[in-house]
Amino acid sequence: MDLQLKGRTCLITGASQGIGKGTARIMAAEGCRVAILARRKDLLDKLADEIAATGAARPAVLAEDVLQQGAPEVIRDKVYKALGNLDILVNSAGGSRPIPWDAGDDAWYEGMTLNFEMLRRLTMAFIPGMRAQKYGRVINITGSSEPRGVNVANSAKAAVHAWAKGLSRVVGGDGVTINSLPPGRINSEQILTKVHPDPKEREAFAKANIPAGYFGEPEDMGNLITFLASPLARYITGEVIHVDGGMKKFAF
Ligand SMILES: NC(=O)c1ccc[n+]([C@@H]2O[C@H](COP(=O)([O-])OP(=O)(O)OC[C@H]3O[C@@H](n4cnc5c(N)ncnc54)[C@H](OP(=O)(O)O)[C@@H]3O)[C@@H](O)[C@H]2O)c1
Repeated sequence: MDLQLKGRTCLITGASQGIGKGTARIMAAEGCRVAILARRKDLLDKLADEIAATGAARPAVLAEDVLQQGAPEVIRDKVYKALGNLDILVNSAGGSRPIPWDAGDDAWYEGMTLNFEMLRRLTMAFIPGMRAQKYGRVINITGSSEPRGVNVANSAKAAVHAWAKGLSRVVGGDGVTINSLPPGRINSEQILTKVHPDPKEREAFAKANIPAGYFGEPEDMGNLITFLASPLARYITGEVIHVDGGMKKFAF
């Protein structure tokens, strides 16, 4: 299937590791001109070199902290300078934030800002351009709506789902779609070093909770992200699509 992505422009946040990194590889292989963003420039440079070595266009490297004051506008300007316009935005920067049930406001503010507010503001920086060019794809990497305890990320990702649904209804007539993908357990830096650092525990968790029986790879997300980025996915918007090997227990 030709996904018709050759020459399309794409920004991927959180691309130094995990889901963002895997997605950058696939988007570049499909012929997209890609910008990769995270704080760790050394990792981004390495990924850009790896992608260039495959014969694909070398991604533009944006070493930015999305939590910095004014980051959305700075990032938008740098993306437009590097790529000329933006067709596809993959919001993957973020992370789990388990906290005590009575944690203070600072923990809530940091987790909500990273996982909801900055994602929303960055998207808003690109929506006018997408509407004007009558093409846009926003794909948010979110997370579970089945909390196992108090985790700021659960609330922030639920906020993304509700906001994205509303926005999809406003921008749908301009050829702009916005969808959210909650991963189940995908092998990534945070999963392997923080959430499930012990391989034996990982295996036991997968057997007990994931019908497929194993943790997914970033490319399991990247394949769907790439399809949703394509013109072929024009009729899919406002959706929350789980990529979790069947881990979610409820039908809706
Ligand atoms: N993997 C899973 O199973 C899973 C499950 C549920 C939800 N998710 C969600 O999926 C998304 C991707 O997660 P992942 O598992 O792939 O995580 P990961 O491997 O830990 O990668 C997180 C990425 O976000 C970037 N990042 C974090 N804070 C940033 C900041 N302030 N500014 C710019 N970039 C920042 C990191 O880069 P730098 O450190 O270099 O800045 C890194 O590239 C996250 O939103 C996460 O909440 C993942």
